Amino acid sequence: MTTPIIETQSLTKTFRVKKKTVEAVRSLDLRVEPGELVAFLGPNGAGKSTTLRMLTTLLPPTSGTARVAGYDVGRHQAEVRRHIGYVGQGNGAGHLQRGRDELLNQGRAYGMTAADTRARADVLIDGLDLGGVVDRTVSTLSGGQRRRLDITLGMIHAPELLFLDEPSTGLDPQNRAHLQEQIVGLHRAGTTIVLTTHYLDEADAMAQRVVVVDHGAIIADDTSEHLKGGLGVRVTLGFATAADAEAARGQVDAAGSTEAPVVTVQDGAPALVVRHRDGTTWAADAVRRLEAAGLVVTGLEVVRPTLDDVFLSLTGRSLREAGATDAGATTEEVAA
Ligand SMILES: Nc1ncnc2c1ncn2[C@@H]1O[C@H](COP(=O)(O)OP(=O)(O)OP(=O)(O)O)[C@@H](O)[C@H]1O
Ligand SMILES: [Mg+2]
Repeated sequence: MTTPIIETQSLTKTFRVKKKTVEAVRSLDLRVEPGELVAFLGPNGAGKSTTLRMLTTLLPPTSGTARVAGYDVGRHQAEVRRHIGYVGQGNGAGHLQRGRDELLNQGRAYGMTAADTRARADVLIDGLDLGGVVDRTVSTLSGGQRRRLDITLGMIHAPELLFLDEPSTGLDPQNRAHLQEQIVGLHRAGTTIVLTTHYLDEADAMAQRVVVVDHGAIIADDTSEHLKGGLGVRVTLGFATAADAEAARGQVDAAGSTEAPVVTVQDGAPALVVRHRDGTTWAADAVRRLEAAGLVVTGLEVVRPTLDDVFLSLTGRSLREAGATDAGATTEEVAA
């Protein structure tokens, strides 16, 4: 077994706000191996940023321990910081400097030579399509341009472990795609990456492993494929009458289904809904069987589960809806 690059034990963060206690992170046990790309998912206020801020030494844990790149985050902050890059959820870039100068300063602050910093900056500027704007004062950049500059700042020193807190929020689709390419490229080159995102498709496309957090605790930790596979593909068979749908329920082969078949109404028409591990093949077979038994299937829909379906089944609510509940809730830290 390799030595994990991140290992937490009962990591906990509690805030006191106006005499009320907020359990932002509750007894988190997390292990990340070198080279992994892990996505943290969860609704607003789930504790994602707080976790990242503890792992990057910006916030002291209330209790529990965390080791990052082999060092304790409480006792060896400088060592931890030397091994990591961090792009926070807010904009970090100073406003009165030119973007390029910020980048060069950042590289030098990490002990890179001026030549190395310039070369690396050029690659990132190109990769994140900042060529036209990096020589302007940061305060004149748009939100998305500034966000991309922040991301290059976090990546300039090519850290072995990179934390990205909602890197793609606020980017247009094209720049999100550019950013994904950069992230996947860094990962391929061996960088360990922990990122948070509200874009489930993005997590699905990039991450090998998905950690779902809710109310400060991990409620799922697995590959996206496994998480979705456990739910099964949803197959909806349409019928002319409810009696046909009922009859079909008695005829179909329920072996391998992940939920008992149910008769319902979809789009105003009677339907039989089945969740099955191997839904596509099952659906084709079911249609053949039913037709052979004299039951006419009038509609067919096969839907693969998304990560949002996974979240819905784990928590009883959609990540999208949940994400909207307390958006923008920012509170001052009263006591750590
Ligand atoms: N400095 C702070 N002082 C008091 N409470 C805080 C502080 N930072 C975070 N919290 C609270 O801790 C909880 C977790 O917040 P956190 O920022 O970690 O959530 P998140 O999962 O990153 O959410 P989002 O998706 O909105 O970024 C929330 O209830 C939040 O209000
Ligand atoms: Mg956050």
